[in-house]
Amino acid sequence: MKIEKLKPTLGAMIRELDINDLTSSEWDTIYQEFLDHAVLIFPEQHLSKKEQEGFAMRFGEIEHLTKGAKTTAITNKTPKGVFYEVDSEWSKLLKGNEGWHTDSSYMSLTAKSSILSAHVVPEMGGETEWADMRSAYDELDDRTKQQIENLSASHSYFHSQAKIGHHVKVGANYGFADGEVPLHPLVKIHPETGRPALFIGRHACKIPEFSEQASESLLARLMSFSCQSPRILTHRWNKGDLVVWDNRCVLHRARPYAPNQERLMLHTRIKGDRASESALNI
Ligand code: OGA
Ligand code: MN
Repeated sequence: MKIEKLKPTLGAMIRELDINDLTSSEWDTIYQEFLDHAVLIFPEQHLSKKEQEGFAMRFGEIEHLTKGAKTTAITNKTPKGVFYEVDSEWSKLLKGNEGWHTDSSYMSLTAKSSILSAHVVPEMGGETEWADMRSAYDELDDRTKQQIENLSASHSYFHSQAKIGHHVKVGANYGFADGEVPLHPLVKIHPETGRPALFIGRHACKIPEFSEQASESLLARLMSFSCQSPRILTHRWNKGDLVVWDNRCVLHRARPYAPNQERLMLHTRIKGDRASESALNI
């Protein structure tokens, strides 16, 4: 396999490798690259849904986003092949993906990693971006590091969607916690590498010790500091590409694209480990 480092601190492109036919030493290399670079891009894999799920299961147990389905289609077309209405619940969920986030941080168990593959790609836009939260943490000034050392934040999907004008009904069937709001530490120690990373994103809303306003302003400051060059990796998709990322230490977002252009991605999510990805409170 050919491995090309993409950004100073994150991302690697892996070519000349068939994900369906990995030797154990190739898998060991891939997993080590995953821990080191946090985002791995595999061009031209063209995996079926089953094959993608098989690859996902190497990383851990699959988290079901929709009941009974291991993989979810992230698409702007309904199963009948028409575009979702712009003001439909699903379109608002997709819109939410355009804000920096880490998957399932609004759950009591956050996600370990996610896999996304491209099946239909719009002509313009629709890229995915990742931001390295390990390097963001490393680059903070000492005062901020001290300030946030023992802080945590509640992560709420209701809150993050409300901010973009989507008022999610309590009990809506999206598979997220609708009762208590999980609290996660602002500084997350990676369970496998031991590296600290900022654990923030659009679902993070309230720091218990702070007023609403002070929470918002600290979280917004951390987000804007973190999500900028040289910590950003942008991937312009080609059909057949597959990417896996480490939700424990990167944020990601989708970039906008024209609403009359089809985009179809397949998403498989891997559960976090109970010992390290559980909320502090529930
Ligand atoms: C997701 C997500 C980004 C994209 O599926 O969790 O954030 O580019 N997707 O579709
Ligand atoms: Mn996501």
